Amino acid sequence: MAERRTELETIHQGPFAAGAATASAAANIAFIKYWGARDLGAAVPNNPSISMTLDRCRSRCRAIYRPQTSRDEILLVQGGTLQTAPASFAGRIVSHLDTLRALTGASGGFRIETLNTFPHAAGLASSASGFAALTLAVAGSLGLTLDQKTASLLARRSGSGSAARSTLGGYVEWPRGESEEESYAFLLLPATDWPLCDVIALVETGEKEVSSLEGHRRAPLSPHYRRRLELLPERLEAVRRALRTCDLRALGEVIEEEAIELHLIAMSSRPPIFYWRPATLAVLQAVRELRAAGVAAYATMDAGANVHVICEPHNEPAVSERLTAVPEVGGVLRDRVGPDPVVAREAVP
Ligand code: DP6
Repeated sequence: MAERRTELETIHQGPFAAGAATASAAANIAFIKYWGARDLGAAVPNNPSISMTLDRCRSRCRAIYRPQTSRDEILLVQGGTLQTAPASFAGRIVSHLDTLRALTGASGGFRIETLNTFPHAAGLASSASGFAALTLAVAGSLGLTLDQKTASLLARRSGSGSAARSTLGGYVEWPRGESEEESYAFLLLPATDWPLCDVIALVETGEKEVSSLEGHRRAPLSPHYRRRLELLPERLEAVRRALRTCDLRALGEVIEEEAIELHLIAMSSRPPIFYWRPATLAVLQAVRELRAAGVAAYATMDAGANVHVICEPHNEPAVSERLTAVPEVGGVLRDRVGPDPVVAREAVP
């Protein structure tokens, strides 16, 4: 037990001087979904998941460490100006700052300035990129360089489990882990090995009605959940194989099946959760029509109504054009697989 703790104990290096850093981390789209947890607070999952880290949908977070104060200040960049974050948003950030303080031994306060380049809480995993960027910026402001494993583990402990995968670029697996300390993400395939695109059909850009947290809590209440866990090992292996061989058809068929199953579980939870909107089905239909016309494109959805359509770069213009033409679609975001997060330390402000 003592040995397991050693890894994290090495980052307990306080006291720390004043410092600042900015980190930029991208959202990710899950090919195999994290749905259901054995520890919801620390996001220890019931099943392994696999995702593709994006490039353009990202969060940028600046952390300034102030050893002389214990007060945190949480700000959001909105419309180009810095604004005090709403209490619900700030609360989750401060709670993660407390976790990071406890682990690093830092006792001061942080000023956090955070910016998302895409709609907040619209099933686009803004918490994943947000908490990955926050974790890396805070460590940077303390002068700490986290190894990849620790970065993922700490991001996961924010409670936004998918943040564990946003600490890496490319195609990423986050295993279930035998113990809490073994549940951190690792690289399956670098972004440069297979430049897939993600065309996101925006169907809804507001706050979703039921949080992922609540979805995880209700998931085991679906009568289909146990069966899902039985089916997953084979599906995970199919995704790993498709990534190794860059086989879009094999990947696409599995990720569509997986996405439908996530929503089947949500809709059959108690009480049920309906993330889809009629427009979600209209987009799924458009994707099937694209395929019938010879365009290899496959859909997946996280816990929201928006549809992510995965395709190769030569088909991206046709996919974007077709999805834009769906009357119920409010717009498309054209994204692709992206690189690792970036952290830059600044001179002390
Ligand atoms: C359906 O608990 O990581 O997207 O905190 O809202 O980012 P947020 O969600 P989290 O659950 C993610 C659920 C999912 C599937 C996935 O990303 O694996």
